[in-house]
Amino acid sequence: MNEYSDKVYEHFKKPRNAGTIEEADGIGEAGDSNCGDFLRVYIKIDSDNIADVKYLIHGCPASIACASVMTELAIGQNIEDAVMISDEDIINALDGLPDHKQHCSNLGATGLKNAIMNYWDKNKNL
Ligand code: FES
Repeated sequence: MNEYSDKVYEHFKKPRNAGTIEEADGIGEAGDSNCGDFLRVYIKIDSDNIADVKYLIHGCPASIACASVMTELAIGQNIEDAVMISDEDIINALDGLPDHKQHCSNLGATGLKNAIMNYWDKNKNL
């Protein structure tokens, strides 16, 4: 695949859930040392479900679309399911990514995982 799908363009032009969450329950970061792109993910948890996800990103168009669609995949999921969201899930939700942009999906998946791990870390004694 060498072209962006309509879904990638759509999420890039109108990213969902961009921003921050005050008093987030978990915050996770992910960066790509090759390109310098960077993502910070904020999550809000309610009864073991992902109530909200927001993010700040400095990244390429594909990584912005990936972060956007990641929030749609995660919101409303049980955290045990959300932590399993993979690069491939994100790529599929965008109807694919060009071969040379496949790696851009990793920021969204890793940022979300790290935010959930941060939440678990902070709450392990509850
Ligand atoms: Fe860096 Fe896309 S080129 S995440």
